[in-house]
Amino acid sequence: MTGWIRACGLDDIEQEGARRFDNDCKTYAVFRSAIDEVFCTDGLCTHEAVHIADGLVMDYEVECPKHAGAFDYRTGAAKRLPPCINLKTYPAKVEAGEMMVALR
Ligand code: FES
Repeated sequence: MTGWIRACGLDDIEQEGARRFDNDCKTYAVFRSAIDEVFCTDGLCTHEAVHIADGLVMDYEVECPKHAGAFDYRTGAAKRLPPCINLKTYPAKVEAGEMMVALR
C-alpha cells in the first residue's frame, strides 16, 4: 500500500461536490460532503467508462452523467441501475486544508 498523497485542496471542491483526480495512470474521484467529510472512489462508472466526478452529487450519492446510475460515494455501493458493480473506495482525510488519499 502506498502512503497518503495529496489529491487537491479541500477548497478545490464545493460542499456536496466532486473532483477528478489522476495518479499513476489511474483515475479517481474525490468527494466533499455537505459537512466537509471527504471520500475517494475509483473514477470511472462501472457501467461504462465515464468519469463519475462529472455527475451530480447529493445526499452521499453521485449520479453518473451518462445513464443516471447512482453510487453511494462513502461505500462505493451501486444504488441505482444500470450499474450493478460497486466502485472501489480508498481512505481519504483532510490535513491542513489538503485532501489526502491512500491509494492501494
Ligand atoms: S455509464 Fe454510468 S450509468 Fe451508464
